Amino acid sequence: MATVQKLALLYFGVIAALAAPSDRNNKNNNAKVSSIKRISLGPRPYWLVDQMDEGPLKQKLAACSDKEPRRSDWSIGHRGGGTLQFPEHTNESVIAGSRMGAGIQECDVTFTKDKQLVCRHAQCDLHTTTNVVAIPELNAKCTVPFRPATSSSNGTVIIATAKCCTSDFSLDEIKQLCAKMDAFNPRATTPEEYLEGTALWRTDLYAKACSRVPTLKEHIALVDGLGLKFTPELKTPDVPMPYQGNYTQAHFAQQMIDEFKAAGIKPERVWAQSFLYDDVLYWLEAEPKFGKQAVLLDESGDEPGTFPTAVASLKKYAAAGVKIVAPPLPYLVTVDNRGKIVPSAYAIEAKRLRLKIITWSLERSGWLGDGTAGGYYFASIANVTNGEGDVYNLLHVLAQDVGVIGVFSDWSATVTYYANCFGLK
Ligand SMILES: *[C@@H]1O[C@H](CO)[C@@H](O)[C@H](O)[C@H]1NC(C)=O
Ligand SMILES: *[C@@H]1O[C@H](CO)[C@@H](O)[C@H](O)[C@H]1NC(C)=O
Ligand SMILES: *[C@@H]1O[C@H](CO)[C@@H](O)[C@H](O)[C@H]1NC(C)=O
Ligand SMILES: *[C@@H]1O[C@H](CO)[C@@H](O)[C@H](O)[C@H]1NC(C)=O
Repeated sequence: MATVQKLALLYFGVIAALAAPSDRNNKNNNAKVSSIKRISLGPRPYWLVDQMDEGPLKQKLAACSDKEPRRSDWSIGHRGGGTLQFPEHTNESVIAGSRMGAGIQECDVTFTKDKQLVCRHAQCDLHTTTNVVAIPELNAKCTVPFRPATSSSNGTVIIATAKCCTSDFSLDEIKQLCAKMDAFNPRATTPEEYLEGTALWRTDLYAKACSRVPTLKEHIALVDGLGLKFTPELKTPDVPMPYQGNYTQAHFAQQMIDEFKAAGIKPERVWAQSFLYDDVLYWLEAEPKFGKQAVLLDESGDEPGTFPTAVASLKKYAAAGVKIVAPPLPYLVTVDNRGKIVPSAYAIEAKRLRLKIITWSLERSGWLGDGTAGGYYFASIANVTNGEGDVYNLLHVLAQDVGVIGVFSDWSATVTYYANCFGLK
């Protein structure tokens, strides 16, 4: 999913470096969670409903407060689904999201130097999602090792940087890393300071116990053990392809599918995603059983003036056999002249073409009522977004008027609660 490091960049909060040297000996990494019998949604959905403006939707959602929580495939765990509070793409985030009722779990798939598949949001995000820069011998192998923030004599601050990619390391090396909340401190003068910067509306509460970076194989074993479904995303490589001379994009796309086959997972349980149209075309051709529910992720309307082209391109995708498109939340909704949230031109065209729609990602926006109106993910409905409970106004239109078949969320309970209340399985 689209990186929202823009947000991290905006966040210059000063974080007290008071954590004691943490115990990096992982005691319980292999805790086997075979199934979760009881879904629990925690306090957040109830609090969000309380925050809503008075009206029929609030009444309906409040009336569901004592319903028995159930898992729903409409609730898709984004990078695990516990990502708002747990380091993304870890067993712990997957288990948290699964406890909150996510029926489908995501692994963003990228490759290591020895061409092993691991779950990371991007090939080059190890510097913000792990402690790699604080391990000197591994930091030295980064595409760009850590560089401290500096200030020049005229007072200009040059922010701290690093760029560490999964392809910089072997799998054995990656297994030495501890996952952390996705953030960095642009003012860092030491590698340890660079690990800070978690947004105030997230937390480091669960980030000090050294969760390891999972391989796709481990992710499959975990999610299969939980009895859930899969949505692996083939991440667009950050290195030129073919990699190391002969590892082509098609090898990569095939390897991801092969790992599901090797684990005995039926194609009906797998929604393979990619932003690259060619990847989806490849699966349609080479792996039709997986291809027929492959998901074309779409961010082609992000740049100013490109939205009409994104809408117009839907026809081409549908004609090529694509069945599911997945644009970000703001592509699907707009505000009419009476201030009502309604389906956008994109949503109307996708429906006309009988394309199914999945969307991303809820609970990545932090506060909605702090004057930011939810930022990127609420951009097309900013003028009617001013409180935390407005998340359910958006979800309601996506469910009832756009008819999306699933919603990615960083905190699965928020989506599961809605799905349960409206009977979305
Ligand atoms: C300050 O110095 C930096 C580099 O040392 C330079 O890039 C920048 O343009 C200068 N800014 C001003 C306002 O003079
Ligand atoms: C995650 O869970 C799987 C399946 O239970 C297990 O094999 C693996 O070791 C765990 N991985 C990590 C990184 O904790
Ligand atoms: C690429 O070349 C290496 C070395 O010759 C070989 O071991 C490997 O199997 C090749 N990989 C592919 C995907 O063809
Ligand atoms: C919100 O924006 C839309 C589209 O720009 C406009 O038509 C509508 O009148 C605005 N509504 C409110 C409540 O400001």
